[in-house]
Amino acid sequence: TLSFNLPESVPSSPTSSVFSDSSEITMSSASSRPDSTRQTSADVAERDYFNENPAPASLEKYTKQAKEFIDFHAAAGRRVVLVTSGGTTVPLERQTVRFIDNFSAGTRGATSAEYFLESGYAVIFLHRQFSLLPYSRHYSHATDCFLDFLHEGPDGSVVANEEYQSKMLKVLRQYNSAKKQNLLLTLPFTTINDYLFVLRSIAQLMRPLGPSGLLYLAAAVSDFFVPPERMVEHKIQSTNATDSQKNSAKENVESEETFDNFDSSPAVPRSKRLIVDLDPVPKFLKNLVDGWAPEGMIVSFKLETDPEILVHKAQYSLDRYQHHLVIGNLLSTRKWEVVFVAPGQSDKWIRVPRRRKTIVGKENIPDGGEESDRPLNPNDLPEGE
Ligand code: PMT
Repeated sequence: TLSFNLPESVPSSPTSSVFSDSSEITMSSASSRPDSTRQTSADVAERDYFNENPAPASLEKYTKQAKEFIDFHAAAGRRVVLVTSGGTTVPLERQTVRFIDNFSAGTRGATSAEYFLESGYAVIFLHRQFSLLPYSRHYSHATDCFLDFLHEGPDGSVVANEEYQSKMLKVLRQYNSAKKQNLLLTLPFTTINDYLFVLRSIAQLMRPLGPSGLLYLAAAVSDFFVPPERMVEHKIQSTNATDSQKNSAKENVESEETFDNFDSSPAVPRSKRLIVDLDPVPKFLKNLVDGWAPEGMIVSFKLETDPEILVHKAQYSLDRYQHHLVIGNLLSTRKWEVVFVAPGQSDKWIRVPRRRKTIVGKENIPDGGEESDRPLNPNDLPEGE
């Protein structure tokens, strides 16, 4: 079993369990919150970002849906988790043809959501559109086309192939049960901006839940973006074929659509280069912990590729944001091992056998898995995994 004791410095009440009533993973509300009347640089960054960037068209609808969902489950005394999942995009044009993406298939988020449902949580699944979803993930992005799981029965009906039937029936029952009890709300996002607006809104709605509200931030969040004042309207051109047309139309008035977000004198002609100058996305985890959901349980993920820095970065994140748990993972080994970094506790590596393709909770550990205080060597992993 995996057990985390409350650190001395963190008040022991109120408490909440992450995975289930009987789980050994117990966390308290974050220790120290700043004076709510004082405006910090994080407050200013938040005000500026949300004033300067346009709210997504879906914000109102999603906020309404999330509010109804949270109120419904709060009235029933049920714990609610917001699971974020998948990568956020950074558009380069307003009418977006090109964008920068963040790595994530949504496996961690979708799988975790299933385990949370199994543990009695109601789940708001804020995910990248078309990334993996709880339950359907078993089939939707399989190497086979989902139609390969099916065949036509003698009476013209659609039937699952014999070898998939028992698992499919189990998954279908779990999915239908979650749906019937209104336990799963799925909300899609695409861009980093969509994500941040909806995250803030839902986190604030979860505030009255106190420690029964868990925020489980597995989405891969872009660290850099093109701010609106530097984003062009139309598709960035790779040649200057339209320049003369534009010049004659505008009589040497500088086009508002020139992609000009970097002031330098490149050796290669500008017409052949694409220079993308990105601003940092404010670190809103700070605002989330201190202001949006200060009584909530907050679990964030830290993704790195260099094993030498993972634990240090996870620890840094915990120190900086003062939340409850950082789960660190390496790109190359994320399906088999993670490290839990919690306040006042020693780091715990949790590992599952490689044939089990998911890590979520302690349920996976006894089946040949283990805990330890050190990472795997990524070089030991099979090629291509
Ligand atoms: O979906 P899979 O393919 O299964 O992959 C799962 C995963 C590897 C994506 C997942 O396990 C994971 O690690 N998710 C977090 C990825 C990520 O954004 O890591 P990061 O180190 O860049 O960010 C760490 C933390 O900083 C995040 O909790 C984020 O909320 C926070 N952050 C990031 C950017 C930003 N502008 N503000 C933030 O507060």
